Amino acid sequence: MSQVSLEEENAESEPRGRRPVRSFVLRGGRLTDGQKRALKELWPQYGIPDREGELDFCALFGNEHPVIMEIGFGNGDATWRMAAQQPEKNFLGVEVHQPGVGHLLLKLESNGITNVRVACADAVELLRGRVPDASLEGVRIYFPDPWPKKRHHKRRIIQRDFIELLAEKMQHGAILHMATDWEAYAEFMLEVMRDSRQFENLSPHGGTYPRPEWRPQTRYEKRGERLGHRVHDLVFRRAA
Ligand SMILES: C[S@@+](CC[C@H](N)C(=O)[O-])C[C@H]1O[C@@H](n2cnc3c(N)ncnc32)[C@H](O)[C@@H]1O
Repeated sequence: MSQVSLEEENAESEPRGRRPVRSFVLRGGRLTDGQKRALKELWPQYGIPDREGELDFCALFGNEHPVIMEIGFGNGDATWRMAAQQPEKNFLGVEVHQPGVGHLLLKLESNGITNVRVACADAVELLRGRVPDASLEGVRIYFPDPWPKKRHHKRRIIQRDFIELLAEKMQHGAILHMATDWEAYAEFMLEVMRDSRQFENLSPHGGTYPRPEWRPQTRYEKRGERLGHRVHDLVFRRAA
């Protein structure tokens, strides 16, 4: 389970100008003993192996249920709750931060969840290299890093190229659900999405969408609320 650290090493060895712009910075973060155990013992059950090549979702999940991808799940508390709510769907969670991955694995085990698989990887690389075209029934991106400084806006995961990549990987009619507590990022997302012909905004007035009741509160959302931030949901359909 070293996909991300290997990529980071490779990125470091590239000449400065050619380093890819990434939407994350790998923070060290200490692993608890429980997380260490989970990464070792539960990874074979839930983890996506680092191998090359396209993923076979039927083999991975052991069934043909639709697949919803969650990008940047943080500690995964929303992930396992959504999976518990919808056992008839498969969830593919992607996160670069190892302690968060360990935390989710422990929750999957203690709650007896079987419809989640986890990748500790850069979601952009995973989508490009391993997710089959037109294979996802949904993509959820909750509270992506807002990168508030203007010179860092290029690091925001929501960009025109990224949305094109999602469009390739999503089925027609699939739902892209995003949420942010950063007003300026919500506007940025709307601007990027307005330029896309492949997605249709499901908000009746073309803006943000009422928070669906079923969406579990995430850790970052709670933090934003403590800081007095307003939360914005955005929901789009992959057009036919
Ligand atoms: C602000 S946190 C939000 C976490 C969680 N969704 C929540 O709401 O609590 C954003 C997360 O996205 C992850 N992330 C950022 N870019 C990523 C990428 N390209 N692939 C996978 N994870 C990424 C970060 O490691 C971080 O945990």
